[in-house]
Amino acid sequence: MFEECIPRHWDDVVPPIHISVIYAYRGERWDPVEEIKYGRENNPTAKLLEETLSCMEGAGYGLVFNTGMASLSAILHELRRHGKKVAMARLVYGSTRQLAERLLGNALFLAGPPWDELLSLADKVDAILVETIANPTLRVPPLSELAKTCSGRDCILIVDNTFASPVIYRPLERGADIVVESLTKYIAGHNDVLGGFIGLSDEKLYRELWEWRKLLGSIIQPLDAYLVLRGLRTLELRVRRSSETALEIARRLEESGLVERVYYPGLESHPDHENAKRLFGSIFGGVLAFDTGSREKALSLLRKIRLIVPAPSLGAVDSIASYPYESSHRGLSSEEKESLGITPGLIRLSVGVDDVEALWSELERVLKTEG
Ligand SMILES: Cc1ncc(COP(=O)(O)O)c(C=O)c1O
Repeated sequence: MFEECIPRHWDDVVPPIHISVIYAYRGERWDPVEEIKYGRENNPTAKLLEETLSCMEGAGYGLVFNTGMASLSAILHELRRHGKKVAMARLVYGSTRQLAERLLGNALFLAGPPWDELLSLADKVDAILVETIANPTLRVPPLSELAKTCSGRDCILIVDNTFASPVIYRPLERGADIVVESLTKYIAGHNDVLGGFIGLSDEKLYRELWEWRKLLGSIIQPLDAYLVLRGLRTLELRVRRSSETALEIARRLEESGLVERVYYPGLESHPDHENAKRLFGSIFGGVLAFDTGSREKALSLLRKIRLIVPAPSLGAVDSIASYPYESSHRGLSSEEKESLGITPGLIRLSVGVDDVEALWSELERVLKTEG
């Protein structure tokens, strides 16, 4: 799927890791954004990763960061510098929301789901930030409608595509202005590296965000850039496998009566199923969530799982279960958590590349036994 994006600059099949922090520089050209002279500004392995990811996302320019949060920080700092009003879905990764609240204060407007709330705010703000598939109940915003509302005026649509990855959705090809990825998740895919990416086509904004990365000191390190480059060689295989297994597990859970509710955009029962089909076709990602009914049941599951790792992440070869109520969405009030479906019984399951039968028998075992 991304064959033409794999870097082939040299004869070596595996790309080199450039660990030098300084590069001989005699001032021949004075474009700091493109020049490689100091490791906090640019690095050849990081640049290679930027080229690769930009190609995969259909972006004119790309910047890689040391975490997904660092990518979002650069964007939010830039929006704040210009006094922009920003609308953001209430249902996003908890740290993204906390960071936006701290940096933007009264210039931040939280809305949706329900998505009508967000759509009616969209034409009154300068920027909109949403996740393609939103944490943790896998809600899918009306991305096409948001792109329409934003286009033709001075408005930036920012899409955090971490849960989908470019295998399932490429926001820039569908009218978004900026795509963000936490490389830590599907793109690197092995739980051994943190990273972030911003892709966009506006050169002026790219240069400003490069400046923020330099000033915040948040470029990815060379070995980490290499690990991401290695991980993305199997991205498509992993995402397809995880998505197929996640759909099967979601269906079985829903039919089993072992849990109170299942959230997966590939299920007809999901409130955004029709929109997800329009946007993604027949592949819906490797993350699902389910409500066990109580805090006790959810915590008991986390204690008993063996094949599935109890940890606060997603998108890797390992299957991972997390507890959004106390981890990713801990910062929200209990009323708001409740209204967004983030109940004390909710478990988020990121399906890895494990065998579907092995995963199902683990889930059946831990959900059937009490205590
Ligand atoms: C949707 C989303 N965006 C951004 C991030 C932040 O990524 P990182 O942990 O690489 O900083 C996360 C982390 O879980 C996430 O789920």
